[in-house]
Amino acid sequence: MKRLVVISLFTLLFAAFIFVWNKSYESGLEDAYISLEVVNDNPLIPSESGVFERSKFALDYAKMPVDKNHQRSLNSYYSNRAYPGAPPSIPHDIKQDNSIGENDCLKCHQNGGFVQKFDAYAPVVPHPKMVNCRQCHVVEKTSKDFKSNSFYKNKPPTVGKNNALLTSPPIIPHQIQMRENCLSCHAGPSAPKEIRVSHPERVNCRQCHVPKNDSAIFKRSSYE
Ligand code: HEC
Ligand code: HEC
Ligand code: HEC
Ligand code: HEC
Repeated sequence: MKRLVVISLFTLLFAAFIFVWNKSYESGLEDAYISLEVVNDNPLIPSESGVFERSKFALDYAKMPVDKNHQRSLNSYYSNRAYPGAPPSIPHDIKQDNSIGENDCLKCHQNGGFVQKFDAYAPVVPHPKMVNCRQCHVVEKTSKDFKSNSFYKNKPPTVGKNNALLTSPPIIPHQIQMRENCLSCHAGPSAPKEIRVSHPERVNCRQCHVPKNDSAIFKRSSYE
């Protein structure tokens, strides 16, 4: 009698298991599918892929209000650089002085954001993969030990005068090397106010903006 109960209980459990398993198997088959090979039919031009590096933040930048009290200007931007394109010096204290960089710097510089103790927005690094930050960026320890010499700080290109027509896209007046990642400098609260782009959401910047050097391929014409 006891054995019969155990056997029938076991059979019942087994049947229930098959029923449930079958149901979930069937529901898993509800969506039709074919196994497609994933092919990227829209390959990025390797030399332009950096343009898209921060494009996932583009819509956030477009919606972000401007914090007028903490804006940078091109004047303050260039006062921290020996010449246009030179690595800026580190204008703040470094907590871990034995660190070469990496996460000790990226925690603030990867995505930027307001840093209370420095009362400023951290500029976004255009080259987060170059992790040995202090190989190129140093703290300015003194400005007194150097004798003045004939070094002449090149003037940066002018801003706002780079378009052929009033409403045409301005050419890119600067080099592209180390500046592939357009949104890191041209969008967000740390962007110098003169160059903050009005359209961060048009992520394919180089579709409309061409580097200055390309003008060499055009013959001079009588166009005015
Ligand atoms: C606590 C956050 C924080 C950390 C950590 C940090 N920074 Fe900064 N950094 C800032 C902020 C904020 C500014 C902007 C300061 C200003 O404008 O006065 C800045 C500015 C800079 C600048 C000047 C950028 C420019 O455009 O002039 C450089 C270079 C820099 N930091 C490098 C580094 C390096 C290298 C490290 C790692 C050793 C580092 N930072 C760690 C917050 C940080
Ligand atoms: C191989 C040298 C090199 C390394 C390594 C390097 N940088 Fe730079 N960095 C530069 C140069 C050069 C510029 C100036 C680029 C320009 O103006 O075209 C720059 C610019 C910057 C700027 C300012 C961007 C702006 O608004 O102009 C920040 C912030 C910065 N670097 C942070 C970092 C951090 C953080 C690291 C480490 C994760 C790092 N850098 C590693 C050379 C380097
Ligand atoms: C390291 C920071 C940085 C990066 C990255 C960068 N720019 Fe710039 N850009 C500047 C600065 C600074 C200026 C102002 C002129 C100068 O000093 O070179 C400028 C000027 C410009 C101008 C002229 C604006 C005007 O009103 O005349 C255009 C257009 C432009 N950049 C497009 C781009 C595009 C497109 C990219 C990406 C391929 C890019 N920039 C990447 C810093 C940057
Ligand atoms: C569809 C074409 C197009 C794309 C894509 C585009 N721009 Fe522009 N851009 C323009 C035009 C047109 C102007 C001139 C606007 C005017 O004068 O009203 C302009 C102006 C600018 C200026 C001058 C300041 C301003 O906002 O008017 C900067 C800087 C700039 N663009 C940077 C960028 C960056 C960075 C990107 C990528 C995120 C980008 N652009 C994508 C067409 C484009």
